[in-house]
Amino acid sequence: MTADLFESVAEVLPSRQAMAEGAVLLRGFARPAEAGLLAALRQIEAQAPFRRMFTPGGHQMSVAMTNCGCCGWVTDASGYRYDGADPESGNPWPAMPAAFRDLAEAAAREAGFAGFAPDACLINRYEPGARMSLHQDRDEKDFAAPIVSVSLGLPAIFLFGGLKRTDRPQRYRLEHGDVVVWGGPSRLSFHGVAPLADGEHPALARRRINLTFRKAR
Ligand code: SIN
Ligand code: FE2
Repeated sequence: MTADLFESVAEVLPSRQAMAEGAVLLRGFARPAEAGLLAALRQIEAQAPFRRMFTPGGHQMSVAMTNCGCCGWVTDASGYRYDGADPESGNPWPAMPAAFRDLAEAAAREAGFAGFAPDACLINRYEPGARMSLHQDRDEKDFAAPIVSVSLGLPAIFLFGGLKRTDRPQRYRLEHGDVVVWGGPSRLSFHGVAPLADGEHPALARRRINLTFRKAR
């Protein structure tokens, strides 16, 4: 009984794994905030439903997206940008919930980026087979702020490379509650997600949700 208790505590205790200079994986960091995050997510989704956007080259993305905060990351025939309004409805994006902001700020602080003040959160929804090819996050005004990325639901293989597209990426299995923070010398690192394997998650069923916090403006 005591041994079981220790094992289950060890499972949910956060731990830190250095990935590169300025990049760290905080395992389980979001677990204590899970209920608040999922409740806030349901509200956002009701106001600004997930949609699969088109790249400027005309390809429909396999990942479905929505946003909250001052502005949302969007892509269409005219390019990638942050937009203050949801192009589907014309309404402003839902405000960033306190549960989201608090978690992102705490994770950034834990990773050595105290004072991170995210103004935008891109929310990615992966269903089995969905993937994100290697890219840099570079549509933000100021690269001094880090990126904070929260994984919920089904596990995924996160690819984290270097500053050149051709640098061979490292592979990390990200599980429900894991948080990755990259900034400083890693801020423009190429990253992506391998095709999502099918599975069933107790809270999110056959989905992976990724919250990506940025200082966009
Ligand atoms: C992204 O780069 O926007 C998504 C990363 C992830 O889903 O883990
Ligand atoms: Fe990204």
